[in-house]
Amino acid sequence: MSFAGHQNDVYLKGVFGEQPTLPFDWRALQSAAESVMSPGAVGYVSGGAGAEDTMRANREAFDRWRLLPTMLRGIPAERDLSLTLLGTEMPAPVLLAPVGVLEIVHPEKERAVARAAKAVGLTMVLSTASSTPMEDVQAELDGSPGWYQLYWPKDRDVAASFVQRAEKAGYRALVLTVDTWQLGWRPRDLDTAYLPFLHGQGIANYTSDPAFQAGLSDPGGAVLHFLQMFNNPTLTWDDLAWLREQTHLPIVVKGVQHPDDARRAVDAGVQGIVCSNHGGRQVDGAVGSLDALPGVVAAAGDLPVLFDSGVRTGADALKALALGARAVLLARPWVYGLALAGQPGVEHVLRGLLADLDLQLGLSGHRTVGDLTPDSLVRI
Ligand code: FNR
Repeated sequence: MSFAGHQNDVYLKGVFGEQPTLPFDWRALQSAAESVMSPGAVGYVSGGAGAEDTMRANREAFDRWRLLPTMLRGIPAERDLSLTLLGTEMPAPVLLAPVGVLEIVHPEKERAVARAAKAVGLTMVLSTASSTPMEDVQAELDGSPGWYQLYWPKDRDVAASFVQRAEKAGYRALVLTVDTWQLGWRPRDLDTAYLPFLHGQGIANYTSDPAFQAGLSDPGGAVLHFLQMFNNPTLTWDDLAWLREQTHLPIVVKGVQHPDDARRAVDAGVQGIVCSNHGGRQVDGAVGSLDALPGVVAAAGDLPVLFDSGVRTGADALKALALGARAVLLARPWVYGLALAGQPGVEHVLRGLLADLDLQLGLSGHRTVGDLTPDSLVRI
């Protein structure tokens, strides 16, 4: 599949007077989206923890690595970026990261995202905190691959039910997020005193769940019931044995930064790791995620390591892949596309990133993603 061909499509349309309606530059896209989003949604999506030092560090970490291009390598005009990851075939090493509460961004929420993921062929990781029940999102995916991200609720019956529902609905992997057993200190949300969940937003997987409903004494008390089970501070690596018993799906642990945790994940018998700091939304002052990646990759041994936090361009993706990530997860940029234009907005962002990645790969002298190594980069 030629993703780079999107460039020609855009220019050719220009010949016939058709101008793009959305910006291609990620900064322009973000500011256009913020101008149409509610103040609460801007804070929730664009904000980070604390002074947002880690959110900035995520971007700065990319700045310290530069590609070292090589020329005249006889690069194929059409490059194959495809891979199979934990049994899921992917046309390129890019997934849609789990992002909750999309109803605050666009009325078609996860349905629009699922349709866009299907149209482009990328795997969508659906959040536990989605605004649409996981079965309904799977119906929109309609055979296109989806993975399910688990926030592990304190109530074990609900946790087991989420996992069973995800497997039954057809999700192909379970992504357990371990960095958010409680929400971080997020000044922008505090300034507007706005937490979506307290408004009943982003709890559709809970309210549609039989085990959740069974524990509900007062039907009006869903938000309170959710709050009682979201925070789960006592979880440890040992609990993963219980999760393993609940499902045949591959388990991927998301939110690893420390090499010791990568080793614990290996020992716990999971199938993959996402090196991520949740986009700087949890531990402020923490290291930029790309700076953590080489240590996590080294400690993970044969386990595939995926990467997120700060990916905005094709060059960013190449740098993470060169440092050992098998794939990257894109998050905020497609949320901004969704805010601006629903499904076509998400598609615009995905097709743009894939074309950029494909062109960058070839122009920097690589025939395949597998050709990328740390030697493709220079640390400045
Ligand atoms: C997230 N992220 C996230 N992660 C997760 O595992 N479950 C979730 O429900 C959410 N929800 C969520 C909402 C919003 C608004 C954002 C911005 C992010 C984190 C996400 O999957 C990813 O790790 C980060 O967003 C990566 O950082 P960048 O690249 O978006 O800056």
